[in-house]
Amino acid sequence: MTRIGWILPIVSIILGISAVQLVHAQNIRCCEDYCYSRDHDRSQSKHFATKTSYEVIHGSSSSREHIVPNCIPSKFWLLSRHGTRLPGKKDIELLPQALNNLRNSILDNYDNRRTAPDIGRMCADDLDLLRSWRWDRNVSVEYESFLTDQGWSDLKLLARREKDRFYEVFNGPYDKQRYLFRHTKAQRTEASFKAFVEGLFGDAAYNFINADPEPSDDTLLKPYDFCPAYDANKDKNKQPDSELNKFLRSPMYLQTLSDISTRLGFRYNLSTDQIEAMWDICRYEQAWHLQQYSPWCSVFTKSQVNVLEYKEDLKYYYQNSYGYERSADLACYAVADMMKHLGRADGQQVIAYFTHESEIQIFLAALGALKDRIALRADNYYAMQNRNFRSSELTPFASNVAVVRYQCADPVEPVKVIFFLNEKALMFDWCRVGLCNWSEVVRRYERFTKGDCAKMYCGGSGASSSTLHWTAAMGVVLAIGGTFLAQQRL
Ligand SMILES: *[C@@H]1O[C@H](CO)[C@@H](O)[C@H](O)[C@H]1NC(C)=O
Ligand SMILES: *[C@@H]1O[C@H](CO)[C@@H](O)[C@H](O)[C@H]1NC(C)=O
Ligand SMILES: *[C@@H]1O[C@H](CO)[C@@H](O)[C@H](O)[C@H]1NC(C)=O
Repeated sequence: MTRIGWILPIVSIILGISAVQLVHAQNIRCCEDYCYSRDHDRSQSKHFATKTSYEVIHGSSSSREHIVPNCIPSKFWLLSRHGTRLPGKKDIELLPQALNNLRNSILDNYDNRRTAPDIGRMCADDLDLLRSWRWDRNVSVEYESFLTDQGWSDLKLLARREKDRFYEVFNGPYDKQRYLFRHTKAQRTEASFKAFVEGLFGDAAYNFINADPEPSDDTLLKPYDFCPAYDANKDKNKQPDSELNKFLRSPMYLQTLSDISTRLGFRYNLSTDQIEAMWDICRYEQAWHLQQYSPWCSVFTKSQVNVLEYKEDLKYYYQNSYGYERSADLACYAVADMMKHLGRADGQQVIAYFTHESEIQIFLAALGALKDRIALRADNYYAMQNRNFRSSELTPFASNVAVVRYQCADPVEPVKVIFFLNEKALMFDWCRVGLCNWSEVVRRYERFTKGDCAKMYCGGSGASSSTLHWTAAMGVVLAIGGTFLAQQRL
């Protein structure tokens, strides 16, 4: 046998095997290689939309943005979302079972069925994480949506940093003439208020500090709860032709679902609900325990997380921000309140409100902050990769807008303000590196202060749009009620 004689068959065998492997690999390859357990950076946790931890977003305590030459901070107005919370009732009821099933199937796919892809499969460490995952028994329905320990720290540490930065405003002991606090009716906003106060005045300070009571129609902190037009728009976003739903049908999103499913060893595509369940628990666990690894975060690669983030951004953009023409007006009461407090030297020096993500989003829209030149749409994911509107950056847990009034030596414009979003100065093009002349602030937001918020906040269709309508409506209700009662008695 010549050399060629025996080399040829071997070469062809090798070629044959590679060809088979190639076909095989092409069939079941999904994604980039990624091992979450070995990733100490875990940068995707900055893209968890409104369940992003505040710790990975907020501005640095060593930042000097708040220091303005020839100016002294004189007032502090804050609108804050509650800190990290537990899931809501429905999630606590449904997630444990759904996740147990998914975990068992994934492990079965890898251990027994051997349907994991050749390229882009989960690493052994990640699988082990998943193997040892259990639902935290402390997370039960009786504590649904409660503030967590981390949520308490979010607000307490925020208060301490702000007190350090603006010590001229926060000096001295608590004085009810100088401080105004308010929160919505929820446990998580009330606890956030208490944590904030503890950060300012020391342990258990909330025992002797009261927040103002919540009015029956809280149009300052939850205007969207009293606006039928807002609900109608929300319904509109559930229609098939909304940008969100178009995105859910787009090749980009469907491919992502398919990739996630393939990577977990499924020979069929998981549903959006199943993907959501895994993403939700990943985001919650990461926000509850910052230093730990959440097994469920290992089921997504970084680029898949970005796609899921965009889906959420589309929802919020059309519900609470520039994609909804009324979002800015909804925040009328809040903007007017900020203008009222910051427009005068006397009165309370610290005003702090504790509310929810939607309020922060409509307030930012009212300010005209972080507006993109191009609207977010179902079909421009790639073009919008560097967008300003990113719910992770705007409204993580404990997100907040702090507006600080400065008294300055400038003879023409002695009053200036800086708007801080999550402890980072907002850069408006009408301000100088974030420092805004008060006269310009007044001009920019005139329509909220000159207008009648009762008429404006819900485009005239709000609950308290007019006393007349209200009285008329009450009359009708009473009449119907009366008839109803009368019939019952018969
Ligand atoms: C559950 O709550 C108890 C008591 O507050 C605490 O000691 C424990 O660490 C919690 N368990 C988990 C898994 O967080
Ligand atoms: C899963 O989704 C992808 C992308 O839409 C599609 O090409 C594929 O056929 C689906 N797989 C199954 C098994 O239905
Ligand atoms: C603010 O007012 C001062 C004094 O009138 C002026 O010099 C400055 O240009 C103004 N700044 C901005 C950003 O308009």
